[in-house]
Amino acid sequence: MTDTQQPELTEDGRQRRTIKSFVMRAGRMTEGQQRGIDKGWPLFGLELEDGLRDFDQVFGRSAPRTFEIGFGMGHSTLEMAAAAPEQDFIGVEVHKPGVGALLNGAMTQGLSNLRVYSCDALEVLRDCVADASLDRVLLFFPDPWHKSRHHKRRIVQPAFAELVRSKLKIGGVLHMATDWENYAEHMLEVMNAAPGYRNLAADGTYVPRPEERPVTKFERRGERLGHGVWDLKFQRQA
Ligand SMILES: C[S@@+](CC[C@H](N)C(=O)[O-])C[C@H]1O[C@@H](n2cnc3c(N)ncnc32)[C@H](O)[C@@H]1O
Repeated sequence: MTDTQQPELTEDGRQRRTIKSFVMRAGRMTEGQQRGIDKGWPLFGLELEDGLRDFDQVFGRSAPRTFEIGFGMGHSTLEMAAAAPEQDFIGVEVHKPGVGALLNGAMTQGLSNLRVYSCDALEVLRDCVADASLDRVLLFFPDPWHKSRHHKRRIVQPAFAELVRSKLKIGGVLHMATDWENYAEHMLEVMNAAPGYRNLAADGTYVPRPEERPVTKFERRGERLGHGVWDLKFQRQA
């Protein structure tokens, strides 16, 4: 797929075109990334086509479960999973070199608490994740889609809030971070209006930088450019 739009069928069987939050980029893989795909996929890879999964069975235990949307090159995912062996992590990314990089890292570190999907995270949430089964959903530095005419491609929308809410346990948390102020404001507006959530920020806006979020190149770039970074945490109430 090279477009941002993918055909989907409506109830009467006609094609509907849905707006995607990503563009598939052609990217050459490094040797390490290719090794990650070849050797790591059989160990850590999960397929959208397999549908609804019992993740207790997938991980062979029942542990706090984090779902990360768009892990990029997987640096944060790897750091978080290595630092919390008592928790389980499901990462989803459409960009293949990133998937390869994370798999390669997971093999090098010998992780057993990580599984990876290589497709649209929203489809994974919809088709593969049981309702009320996640402790955390992470969305770190999503593509900001700067231009107003592209704002409809931003992943954070009312339907996204509702989908994530349905997959979080009651008390589970959606944690988002961005270095783009206009997107932070958009996230706040969408999430403050979304039913069934409580903003964990004391003043109803942003939370202080949480220690558990690893520093990534986006944060470093933001600092270099004099941008801020905004973290938002919303807890499922009902
Ligand atoms: C700006 S990057 C940030 C990567 C990473 N979270 C970080 O902080 O370094 C956003 C990533 O989200 C991925 N992405 C966007 N929409 C997605 C979706 N619906 N499903 C899976 N990945 C997605 C993109 O491919 C891209 O790699």
